[in-house]
Amino acid sequence: MNEKPLQLEKVSRSFGSLEVLRELSLTISRGEFVAVVGPSGCGKTTLLNLLSGYDQPSSGSIHRDGEVRMVYQQDGLFPWMTVAENIALGLRELKAEADRTRQTNELLRLIRLESFERHYPHQLSGGMRQRVELARALAGDSDILLLDEPFSALDYLTRLRLRQELARLLDERPRTVALVTHDIEEAAQLADRVIVLSERPARIQYELSIAVPRPRDLTHPEVVRAIHRILTELGIEQDHENAAGSRRFAASE
Ligand SMILES: Nc1ncnc2c1ncn2[C@@H]1O[C@H](COP(=O)(O)OP(=O)(O)O)[C@@H](O)[C@H]1O
Ligand SMILES: [Mg+2]
Repeated sequence: MNEKPLQLEKVSRSFGSLEVLRELSLTISRGEFVAVVGPSGCGKTTLLNLLSGYDQPSSGSIHRDGEVRMVYQQDGLFPWMTVAENIALGLRELKAEADRTRQTNELLRLIRLESFERHYPHQLSGGMRQRVELARALAGDSDILLLDEPFSALDYLTRLRLRQELARLLDERPRTVALVTHDIEEAAQLADRVIVLSERPARIQYELSIAVPRPRDLTHPEVVRAIHRILTELGIEQDHENAAGSRRFAASE
């Protein structure tokens, strides 16, 4: 099995004269959770579409090894299908109906929505709908999960809950994950590695590894430190530690 299921080498993508991504190189290891953060409109969705194979680069190369599942910001469920039917769509490769039913029930249990199997999407809250989306994406044995701002349409508390839910689901069903988000907290709380994209044309501006097991509290010192590092890199917060260090240095001269 390829231990690097996603590899981008000097990938650029332009739409006409609009240069969106410039010579982006990125390798994601099997089982790794990478979060990509960056300003709105910088090319995050474009990057995911390239990773999924839905779009092709203008130049550069992409290697993908494994089946991909995507989760979008919202409204990815079929409104005329029940919760159970939507989840079962992720299990099409299972030929026997009994297997599909058993797996669907297992996934309903995993997202704690057993009693909603016959409900339709419009009868659920936004957070519940995204849990169903995650269940469908984790159904079967695809290898790669691509998430495009999956929680950004939800309120703050629901977002916090769903982050922990996602961490728990991945613990049960490990995947190679690329999560695109503009939410730096979300990235720092979930990812093994955070990639910060620059303004368009997007390049990798900064990269940070966070070696803390999930689930992580938002107040975990490493998570807080990561958020601060990223905000500093984006020019939004001051680097107090180093500023204090340089003052000390100046004082001892
Ligand atoms: N298919 C397309 N045709 C033309 N322009 C596009 C297309 N897809 C994206 N863009 C443009 O590329 C830029 C980046 O878009 P996108 O990747 O959706 O940004 P993000 O997801 O970071 O907000 C935007 O200016 C957008 O209008
Ligand atoms: Mg987007």
